Amino acid sequence: MGKANNGTAAPGAGSSLADSPQWQAFARAADAARLDAGALKTIEAAGLCVDLTMQWQSPALEEAGRALLEARGLAAARDALFEGGPVNWTEGKPAWHTALRAGRTREAPDGQDSESVREYARMLDYVRALDKAGDYSSVLHIGIGGSDWGPRLAVQAFGGPAQRRQIRFVSNIDGHSLHDAVAGLDARRCLVVISSKSFTTAETLHNARAAIAWLRNGGVRDASAQLAAVTANPSAARALGVPGSQVFKMCDWVGGRYSVWSVAGLSIALTVGAEVLIGMRAGAEAMDQHFRQAPVGANAPVQLALAGLVNCSVKGHNSLNIAAYSARLLHLVTYLQQLEMESLGKRVAGDGQPVGVPTAPIIWGMPGTDGQHTFFQWLHQSEDGAPVDFIASLQGHPGSPDAHRMLLANCLAQRQALLRGKSLEQALLDVAHIDDRERALSLARHMVHPGGRPSTLVVMRQLDPRSLGALLALYEHKVFVQSVVWGINPFDQWGVELGKRLATGIERELAVPVSAGLVDWGHDASTSYWIDRYRSHAQAPRPRHAGLPGVAAHL
Ligand code: F6P
Repeated sequence: MGKANNGTAAPGAGSSLADSPQWQAFARAADAARLDAGALKTIEAAGLCVDLTMQWQSPALEEAGRALLEARGLAAARDALFEGGPVNWTEGKPAWHTALRAGRTREAPDGQDSESVREYARMLDYVRALDKAGDYSSVLHIGIGGSDWGPRLAVQAFGGPAQRRQIRFVSNIDGHSLHDAVAGLDARRCLVVISSKSFTTAETLHNARAAIAWLRNGGVRDASAQLAAVTANPSAARALGVPGSQVFKMCDWVGGRYSVWSVAGLSIALTVGAEVLIGMRAGAEAMDQHFRQAPVGANAPVQLALAGLVNCSVKGHNSLNIAAYSARLLHLVTYLQQLEMESLGKRVAGDGQPVGVPTAPIIWGMPGTDGQHTFFQWLHQSEDGAPVDFIASLQGHPGSPDAHRMLLANCLAQRQALLRGKSLEQALLDVAHIDDRERALSLARHMVHPGGRPSTLVVMRQLDPRSLGALLALYEHKVFVQSVVWGINPFDQWGVELGKRLATGIERELAVPVSAGLVDWGHDASTSYWIDRYRSHAQAPRPRHAGLPGVAAHL
């Protein structure tokens, strides 16, 4: 990851988006469009219904969007994505997560993809064998970013009482994470799954070593036997002690934030069942087909992307709120934060020049109705507000139809309130009983909701693996379409490298003995101050904290 090679030609290099006549026509049409939910606009895609009625609309905007996508070369870019072309042009690699979803149906001539199919089958066989033998009552999943969010999301969505094994996740390098995760687990009945595409991620390797120490100190004589790994770097996993038969190979041509479609689904299969993985892949594959085949005007990812381009790049909204009306989608926002912000959080296009229009809104949110009691006030009445993507299902928990009706009613009501708002005249009716008219008017002003705030509603029949897979692929392709328009490479992540590199040096400096005397670290005043202050603090004599048996000594 993060390696520069010669790369490949960037699509659209040399053409400034902001100066292009198609962009200017699109921006003009967006300025003149209506936001009044006057015309129903829904698209059925892979079992989802995407309702864009409450976005900016007009026939001219539709037409300008079509012309923009054509000018930016969407069709060719999409073909390259699906055919395994080097769409990650700064690293000269494909980003071929769609091939994983297509599974057996696609065989690359160079055999690359048959290896991914083989490894996936081997991973599922491994899970079946463990299930049959009744091995392990818990899984300790170690990984971060794309090697963590997918499993967390799926386990939260489909776990619960029927879960086959307990699972604990450790991602953060914060020692509390591992201590808390292993608390109450029987080391002898726990499988440690180390998930890392690169197998060089500092947090993951540190936590993996600490987990191995925990196994040993928990009475496990052969700790290696209780390790499994998913990685594109099998030799590093074996070097850590993971038996080769329990190392499952990811392909280098799948980006870390797309790894849930790969053997990185191991922990999902172990805890909520292989059928969840299979269903998710099938839903994503159905969305892939829709994205490839549906015409622009009826293409859900494309239309979602265009709505986002209007809101972000034309109307200037720098964030997008995700409100999933499902407690089981607790981790959807974080999953989408990585997908959208690691992919699009960039400001230069293929030619290295600034894109020239605002890009990549901040993704934030939490499930409804919790969000309503947290930040919806801001969505309704702050100066700017933000567009919202509402996500809901027709069917909720079968045992609580009333609760689901309330949940859905809240979702529909919030969208309506954001769009319609509440005028001063309406607010005055609410205070008509107050005799003091001056006070009534002043109070009414506080009750005004400006309205005119756009939203999308994505509805699934019910939250099941298939619909979750389709939902994730919907957002993946939306991101891809936006990247094509902005001219951004959505498959690299140079922005996480600089901080990582600096941390390595600073960590070394934090460990320098105070007895070394005054050191000129060559940093800014604040960084140098905190390095020295931490060293004095950490090296001051104090009683040692015992921590959990077997773990503290290794952290
Ligand atoms: O945050 C940067 C990143 O490289 C992500 O893209 C990736 O999901 C994460 O780190 C973990 O990387 P790895 O799977 O190689 O440990």
